[in-house]
Parts: sequence; structure tokens; C-alpha cells
Amino acid sequence: MAEDEDFDRLVAQTTDNPQEAMIEKSLRPQTLKDYIGQPKIKTELAVYIEAASKREESLDHVLLYGPPGLGKTTLALVIANEMQVNVRMTTGPAIEKSGDLVAMLAELKPGDVLFIDEIHRLPKVVEEVLYSAMEDFYVDIIVGDGPAAHPVHLPLPPFTLIGATTRAGLLSAPLRDRFGIVEHMNYYDLDELVTIIKRTAAIFDLAITEDGAIEIGRRSRGTPRVANRLLKRIRDFAQVDGVQSVDKMIAAKALTHLEVDDDGLDQIDRKILTVIIKYYNGGPVGLKTIAANVGEEVQTIEEMYEPYLLQSGFLKRTPRGRMVTAKSYTHLKIPLPKQQ
Ligand SMILES: Nc1ncnc2c1ncn2[C@@H]1O[C@H](COP(=O)(O)OP(=O)(O)OP(=O)(O)O)[C@@H](O)[C@H]1O
Ligand SMILES: [Mg+2]
Repeated sequence: MAEDEDFDRLVAQTTDNPQEAMIEKSLRPQTLKDYIGQPKIKTELAVYIEAASKREESLDHVLLYGPPGLGKTTLALVIANEMQVNVRMTTGPAIEKSGDLVAMLAELKPGDVLFIDEIHRLPKVVEEVLYSAMEDFYVDIIVGDGPAAHPVHLPLPPFTLIGATTRAGLLSAPLRDRFGIVEHMNYYDLDELVTIIKRTAAIFDLAITEDGAIEIGRRSRGTPRVANRLLKRIRDFAQVDGVQSVDKMIAAKALTHLEVDDDGLDQIDRKILTVIIKYYNGGPVGLKTIAANVGEEVQTIEEMYEPYLLQSGFLKRTPRGRMVTAKSYTHLKIPLPKQQ
């Protein structure tokens, strides 16, 4: 079903959709000042960046973690921009052999940023090469084959590794420990989302009213990527309806059509909650079972859907599995079962 794919994409990454990726790129703030929200992270980074710049040193390695679409990639680019250095971007699964990583490291200039997205998916052998590179800026590699093989000690320029991951828990301790700066990205509050939506509207050259921005913000699951995508779709509805500026009415109409409900939950969110209630009496039930019933990958549920459901109090985690809360029953208009 084509519509299903649309819903998937609301929270999904953009790598599989070049057009969305282009739009996302054009919406990315370039400086810490333009980066909306995450005040604690911005304050800390501003200090570290200024200090490193004054000492003319590379910035300490940075680990950014948090749910998809909160601005990790954007922040990595902002950091490189603020440090006035080049950035080389890659992803964990794309680096298959340690040689690939060594080649990338060897090309860096002093102070440059190497950004590794999904760093938790780095192959183990590659990860081990990173240890000495991060700590002492060298790698030991084997050159040649057979009897001619010999170790070579390759010094590297001082560089900054920025790693991004949706789940810090999946990182090995030795890797995690080598990041001097570890920042947890939080969901955005309504004010911040409204600011982001207005900023995006201005870039789209689209008029929007305050209540229109609030309506979209409320239903964006605390996530800038979702806010931007919803706005982009609503713009189409506004255009077709001949509405001059996006107001609450057209926003609500479009969102209802997109089946994004009042709390910003989409079809899959609701399916997850419904499955737990209808088939498992509200839980506890294991993630694998939920995934099988919903028809999604365990990883997709764990990384894209569950964090927001947990954060917004629809779901809770127990040692025996996931449970829905009373809020889920109310939201889905299903009567709460009587306490036994
Ligand atoms: N703080 C922010 N201010 C304004 N726009 C933002 C902010 N954070 C993110 N965005 C917008 O949200 C979109 C998604 O951000 P980004 O790609 O950086 O997320 P991400 O955390 O890297 O996601 P993923 O985990 O899927 O890689 C971008 O288009 C960006 O413009
Ligand atoms: Mg990203």
C-alpha cells in the first residue's frame, strides 16, 4: 500500500529517498546560533569549540545519541562548520574493511571531522582500528602479503571523530570510553518545534499562522524531521485547497487525512499499542512478538517507534516486556480492563 510507505517515511531516515534528502539538506541550520533547541548541548559545545579553537587543537571526539530525526547529522555539520574544518561523512555499515577506514583517516587534514553515522553498526575489526586512531592518532597496519607482510606504523593528523547512534547502549565500552564529549539528544518541546516549523515555512516561502504552526508542532512527535515532513505535505493540501496561509484548519484536515492523530501517532504506532492491548491484554509482551504481529523489524520498532511511545507515556518497559499504559487505552478509546 503506497500510503503505508508514506507513514514509514515520517520517522525514517532519508538515505533511501534522494529527493527528501535534498530537502532535508536545504533545511539544515549551519551554525550553533541557528540550531534550534537542545540548549544544554549547545552551551556545552560552544565552550568546547571555543576552547579548542583558541588552543588551535582539534575538538575532542563527540558522540551524539538519540532517536532518529532529532538533528544528529545536522549538529555534526554545525560542529565542523563552527570549527572551520572539513567534514568527511560515512556510516558504520559502509566501512566494511579496516583498510577502508585507514584510507579515510589518511586523507584527513589536521583538525578535520570524520562523521560516522550509525557508529554502532561498525564491524568489530574496523572498530578496533579506531581505538589507537582516536586515542593517540596512529594506526598500525599490515602491508603486503605472505612472507613479505610487515607492520607499518602510520601516524595520523589530529582529527575529531563525531559518532552518531540511535542507541548508545549498543556501543562497546572501549569505543564509548574514547569519546571525550558524549551528548544525549532530547525530543523537542512544542515551542522549539513551532520555531523550527516557522523557519522551514520561511525557507519554503510559505505563509503560516501561529495556530497552524502549533497544530503541526503538537503532532510532530517531538521530532524536527517529522515536523518538516508534515509541513511539506500540508503545503500540498493548502495549495490544492487554495488556502493562502497554513492555519490550524488546513493543518488539521491534512493531518487527519495522513492519519497522524491528535498526539502525533501514526498507523504503526497505533498498531503497536492495539496489538499489545487486543492480543496480550496490555502486556507485558516481548518486542519480538510485537514486531511479528505488527509486521515490522524488531530494530525498526525499537529505534523508530518505541522511543517516542515510551517518552510520551503510552508504553512502559518492564523486565518481562513492554506494557501499555492507561493513556493508551484512553487514546485508542478502548475501555480499561477491570483490575484483577
Ligand atoms: N535543531 C534543529 N533546528 C532546526 N532544524 C533541525 C534541527 N534538528 C534537526 N533539524 C531538521 O530536521 C531534519 C533531520 O535532522 P537530522 O538529519 O540531522 O537528524 P538525525 O538525528 O541525523 O536523524 P537520523 O538518526 O535519522 O540520522 C533536518 O532536515 C534538519 O533540518
Ligand atoms: Mg542522521
